[in-house]
Amino acid sequence: MPSSYTADRVVGPVLQKDKYMRVAVFSSKAYDQEFLAAANLTVKNRHELMFLDARLGPETAQLGQKWDAVCVFVNDVLDRSVLEILSAGGTRLVALRCAGFNNVDLAAARDVGIVVARVPAYSPEAVAEHTAALILSLNRKIHRAYARVREGNFSLDGLIGFDMKGRTIGIVGTGRIGVCVARIMRGFGCQVTGVDPRHDPMFVEAGGRYVELPELLATSDIITLHCPLTSETHHLIDTRAIDLMKEGVMIINTGRGALVETKALIKGLKSGKVGHVGLDVYEEESDLFFENLSSQIIQDDIFARLLTFPNVLITGHQAFLTREALRAIAETTIANISQFEQSGCPVHPVTLDKPG
Ligand code: NAI
Repeated sequence: MPSSYTADRVVGPVLQKDKYMRVAVFSSKAYDQEFLAAANLTVKNRHELMFLDARLGPETAQLGQKWDAVCVFVNDVLDRSVLEILSAGGTRLVALRCAGFNNVDLAAARDVGIVVARVPAYSPEAVAEHTAALILSLNRKIHRAYARVREGNFSLDGLIGFDMKGRTIGIVGTGRIGVCVARIMRGFGCQVTGVDPRHDPMFVEAGGRYVELPELLATSDIITLHCPLTSETHHLIDTRAIDLMKEGVMIINTGRGALVETKALIKGLKSGKVGHVGLDVYEEESDLFFENLSSQIIQDDIFARLLTFPNVLITGHQAFLTREALRAIAETTIANISQFEQSGCPVHPVTLDKPG
């Protein structure tokens, strides 16, 4: 049991007592509370929500016992041991407040009889627009210009960018977010190529062209990752992949940290092969992101090395963070919980054979 956790607020049910779920909301921040509480007020049978700032994992799983559902986010850990503890305590539903479900052992959830639900699409635009923000900031060195101007340094040395028009953007994963990125980049006059085992006509309509991965790696000025993290995509961007890329390539990852092998990225940055890196996610982010660690010494030397490069821009898993996205996440999460309570099946179930 962690020494410090808080259960910040409980929104009690007000209507039919047997028609609501008791939900322990892990890793909850003020914005989660605001939007979930608001969404909960819109349903007939309001659920009882207990907001915890603790992250769910083996040490905190007991906090979820005796609650019908746990509501979790990207860095909560739902491995077999956690799911067994929850199941033993009577938990029947895991309601993810995100699209990715790589942090849930789905086979274990099935074995212990826990249903898993997610929010498959809340605002692909939010993530796509953040991706565009990283690309433009890195290209035009906005992060460096901002710091310089505040210091009264108006020198332009080292701030040369490139025209986006005519550049090739390679999108790995042309699902909801990938298609939005394609539309935005076509707006800048870029050539857009994509790799995806599932060809989506919307990507082609948006002006994208499907190619094979080696071609995408070899021809793209900017490579951006929008596929889920699976055993197949783990370290998709490694030394071998980077070797195939253009000199000075820009790599953007707003997908999941482990799509990129960070050590290989650092090697590519040091040699100059990789010209820019924009990350909203990081392999070991669970030890860092979502917390204010500004008074502490960062223990992760690989992350600390990344921070030393002037051509690396990192945000702390905030690509989803718009008001529209938070509202949609909260509404879908509450809908998942309500429908599960009524029928035993959430609106967006995640199963081994049919992921959401
Ligand atoms: P989606 O399911 O609509 O699209 C994912 C696409 O990736 C699918 O078309 C799928 O066929 C494709 N794919 C699967 N394996 C692939 C492979 N080996 N190579 C290339 N493509 C492959 O998902 P969506 O909504 O577009 O989200 C994509 C990912 O973005 C999520 O899985 C999640 O990890 C991440 N994400 C990050 C957020 C952030 O705040 N940074 C917020 C939301 C999602």
